Amino acid sequence: MATLLRPITSRDVAAVLALNEADVDLLAPMDAARLVQLREWAHRADVVLAGGEVVGFVLTFAPGTAYDSPNYRWFAQRYGTGFHYLDRIVLDPRFRRLGLGSAVYDAVERDAVHAGRLGLEVNLEPPNEGSLAFHRRRGFAEVGRLGSPGKVVSLMAKELGGAVPSD
Ligand SMILES: CC(C)(COP(=O)(O)OP(=O)(O)OC[C@H]1O[C@@H](n2cnc3c(N)ncnc32)[C@H](O)[C@@H]1OP(=O)(O)O)[C@@H](O)C(=O)NCCC(=O)NCCS
Repeated sequence: MATLLRPITSRDVAAVLALNEADVDLLAPMDAARLVQLREWAHRADVVLAGGEVVGFVLTFAPGTAYDSPNYRWFAQRYGTGFHYLDRIVLDPRFRRLGLGSAVYDAVERDAVHAGRLGLEVNLEPPNEGSLAFHRRRGFAEVGRLGSPGKVVSLMAKELGGAVPSD
């Protein structure tokens, strides 16, 4: 099978920032300096490829980093080291509903099996209906909420069942 994911390089930065900006309302703002910082903390900072073309990117974080996201910190407080956190994923609109997102999650969830679960957040107010549908269909369930009226996120987790007890 053709390569689906590879690490973001300096040549990808413009494409990654453009993808983030196009859907910034669903994600979070990011400039080049922030991307450099996030790549240092990330477990995975990958572009998504289709036919060799960069058509998306994904960032995930393991526990124990200095990542300053309140959502990541919520998962760390609740689950200790028992989680991986998917910070953001975005695909070019031309490449949605083709199964690419599902293939990316197959890889990201495989990485997180030893931790026991994958956590993430999805906008609830205003709702990101497509993402909520995608994540529910994939087995994610709400485990908390953060925000205030008008700007609320659903914190969602999927149990992966591979956690190794730490005594
Ligand atoms: C969310 C996202 C990564 C999903 O990736 P994708 O490749 O489009 O998803 P898939 O094709 O693997 O979809 C798998 C299933 O999820 C559900 N699904 C996915 N997108 C959906 C949508 N917009 N509306 C309803 N159901 C959806 C469907 O059941 C779909 O299966 P089907 O196409 O056979 O009906 C992609 O839509 C995206 O980049 N969205 C914009 C950015 C974003 O919202 N990121 C998430 C922030 S939390």
